[in-house]
Amino acid sequence: MDKKISCGVRPNSSAYRERSHRWLACLVVVFGAVALLLPISAAVAQKDTATSESSASKVSVPSLTGNAESGRRLFVSDGCYECHGNQGQGAATTGPRIAPNPIPMEGIMSYIRRPSGRMPPFSAKLVPDQDVADIYAYLKSVSGPGDVKNVPLFTK
Ligand code: HEC
Repeated sequence: MDKKISCGVRPNSSAYRERSHRWLACLVVVFGAVALLLPISAAVAQKDTATSESSASKVSVPSLTGNAESGRRLFVSDGCYECHGNQGQGAATTGPRIAPNPIPMEGIMSYIRRPSGRMPPFSAKLVPDQDVADIYAYLKSVSGPGDVKNVPLFTK
């Protein structure tokens, strides 16, 4: 900044008398910039808190009880299975494992509404809160790989 707005005056300059005026001009510029920037940064800070507050309230989930059977159907009809596999087991190239032991329902709710990666967002219009609760119940009901004793080859 110092390099661009030259506030100094070379000693012995013929414009010695102008020096004080230059300083005044510089002061006005600096104060002007500060006066301009302060409200802007305050507004930005305010906006930040506003959005984080509203997103926090959006995420809060009413205590919904899910139906696992309905969730199993929704998991297919809503297309979750296409990326996460029929049982939420995940697939290397399309989507991570999300069952068994899914993340808490609040986490699923907030992630599907505002995903941060390759997953498309699902609004409440597409997948209402109750449907998310059902899907969560389904993901919780998934049994996972099961016991190796149930694999015939290992019981021989
Ligand atoms: C087009 C593919 C695609 C579809 C459809 C999809 N997902 Fe995803 N999902 C992903 C990917 C990829 C990720 C990993 C993070 C990312 O890139 O967004 C992910 C992440 C998630 C996570 C976060 C996992 C974690 O541990 O943080 C949850 C929960 C989730 N998906 C649930 C769902 C549900 C429920 C549906 C159906 C309503 C769904 N997804 C549909 C691709 C998909």
